[in-house]
Amino acid sequence: MFKKDLISISDLGDDLPEVVNLGLRLKRDRYTTHEHVQGRSMGMIFEKSSTRTRVSLETAMYQLGGNAIYLNPNDMQMGRGETVADTAKVLSGMLDIITYRAFKHENVEALAKNSSVPVINALDDREHPLQLLADFMTIAEKKNRFDGLKFAYVGDGNNMVNSILLTCAMTGMDVSIATPKGFEADSRFVDRAKNIAKNTGSKVEISVDPVSAVSDADIVYTDVWVSMGQEKEKEEKEKAFRKFQVNGDLVSHAKKDYIFMHCLPAHRGMEVTDEVADSINSVIFQEAENRLHSAKAAIVYLLQN
Ligand code: CP
Ligand code: NVA
Repeated sequence: MFKKDLISISDLGDDLPEVVNLGLRLKRDRYTTHEHVQGRSMGMIFEKSSTRTRVSLETAMYQLGGNAIYLNPNDMQMGRGETVADTAKVLSGMLDIITYRAFKHENVEALAKNSSVPVINALDDREHPLQLLADFMTIAEKKNRFDGLKFAYVGDGNNMVNSILLTCAMTGMDVSIATPKGFEADSRFVDRAKNIAKNTGSKVEISVDPVSAVSDADIVYTDVWVSMGQEKEKEEKEKAFRKFQVNGDLVSHAKKDYIFMHCLPAHRGMEVTDEVADSINSVIFQEAENRLHSAKAAIVYLLQN
């Protein structure tokens, strides 16, 4: 049986704008169930903490007419050594769709490979595709277009950056990433983005200079300096990242009508100041709400295929 997964944002290929538009439509129709989701069940395996992803997925399934089962690996046999592959085969006999937030990308791949139902990556060490759907839905609402815009990311070269690079390249948006030395974006994702950009015309810039990244940007984005699972690196990172804080001085280099975005949770006073996070340019809570509508779009898209 053919099934689609959402492991990388690039899995959506040319359908990306269609899924973003579906999110915008479902936002207008908030409490309408969907024929492809009614009576369907989602399993949600979460190895790490979550506020937005968990609540958006559970609420999305409920509002669309299905149900969701939150699965903490510590309460599952997976936590006692049952393999990811066996878990996938068992769960896909009972469920219609599975989401997985994992420490290791390899485990998300293994779950998808051994599951006969669609698998959504709910964040791993490589990517966060659900977040990018909400982000680009928010950009569509605020800016009405993707191509010709400049997206600046300042901070850690982490899972968010990988997904940002691919999504900007796929939509023809220029992207400028500034990270401290030693915390650069994964070169495999930079290369993939540059390759995609050859067809879409987007510019991909990588530097260690936050001011040049943010100059004339339409979107200024940041994320936590210390991702889940990297807690041991906290002290070292906080020192290395000081000049990469998104504050009033830095955003003064962006376009006047720039929007500030953050996947959240924010560590205020670290990667972003209150002044920026609470400014009129900030769209962080609209972006967070869009996690619900875009999660619905991803679910409908995968279940209708
Ligand atoms: N942005 C995001 O994925 O948030 P959570 O970790 O709260 O799910
Ligand atoms: N980079 C962060 C994103 C959280 C939504 C992390 O992986 O913890």
